[in-house]
Amino acid sequence: MTKAFGSTFTRHMGVSGYRDGQWSPVEMRSLGELHLHPAAHVLHYGSSCFEGLKAYRREDGGVHIFRLDKHIERMQNSARLLCLPVPDRELLDEIICRLVHACRDDVPPAPGALYLRPVLSGVDPNIGSASRPASEALLYVIASPVGDYFGNSQTPLRLLVEDRMRTTPEFGQVKTGGNYAAALRRVVDAKQNFQADQVLFCPDGDVQETGAANFLLLQDGAILTKPLDGSILPGVTRDSLLRLAGSLGYRIEERNFGIDDMLEWIAGGEAALSGTAAVLAGVGALYHDAEEHHVGNGKVGAHTSRLRSLLTGIQTGSEADDFGWLRKL
Ligand SMILES: Cc1ncc(COP(=O)(O)O)c(C=O)c1O
Repeated sequence: MTKAFGSTFTRHMGVSGYRDGQWSPVEMRSLGELHLHPAAHVLHYGSSCFEGLKAYRREDGGVHIFRLDKHIERMQNSARLLCLPVPDRELLDEIICRLVHACRDDVPPAPGALYLRPVLSGVDPNIGSASRPASEALLYVIASPVGDYFGNSQTPLRLLVEDRMRTTPEFGQVKTGGNYAAALRRVVDAKQNFQADQVLFCPDGDVQETGAANFLLLQDGAILTKPLDGSILPGVTRDSLLRLAGSLGYRIEERNFGIDDMLEWIAGGEAALSGTAAVLAGVGALYHDAEEHHVGNGKVGAHTSRLRSLLTGIQTGSEADDFGWLRKL
């Protein structure tokens, strides 16, 4: 039986620690347990952020990391907003690239990839520091060979439209565990009670994103999505798809829109979720106010399939990397 996405790991991990204002040199270690004091800041006050990015293997055997710089920038922004020590660009670059080097043989061929998970946590032992930033931190990176997140890219998703916010207006942009914890009850209930794959969070009717992906509306010649205002995660896949689609002549509309606008759009258009794990996954139905709304004909749409295939083509080398998004190792 194939194991669930993200539950197999390579044998190595990259590690660096922050203490007395300095990061220790990056070390490659065997994957193993972490030793944390039970009073570690992260275990009590949630001082932790992470990233999710992928390395791809090409047919010629070469290995490339997709948009490393953009993920590094986002991790630095998350660290800043969580008052964690901010690792500099060079440190994050080194720890990620050295791990991919060490695990090179474990990068699966397309459509699989090596999913990379850098994590930064506050670790000093002090349960009295709820209102003080962590002064010591641990940075590590682990890697997981993965296949296709939703199993089959042709199976359209069913979303529950919820009139609630995933997290807070400022913290949506931070990739931190607390945001996922805050949304989990909604996601679990949506799966159990409505057989939904994901929740689409729409506080006061403002269409935002799902628990683990950005949300895009597509139609002939146009794409509509919420702008980056701090309340949603600035998805690297979202950015890549918008740039790619813009270069193909699609009109890119980044503006706020409501549930009614969305329902009007999906009558003849497409909806999709974008993310490193999902790539671009078609949505077939939206469940809102006890009513099921089909997206187009309920199947994965032509624009969704086209953009997904172009983006995965760039990632895996069958399409030209015109934007300079790949880092060759
Ligand atoms: C809440 C949320 N929004 C959007 C995304 C998509 O981001 P990216 O395309 O960088 O993977 C993710 C993916 O991790 C996410 O968790």
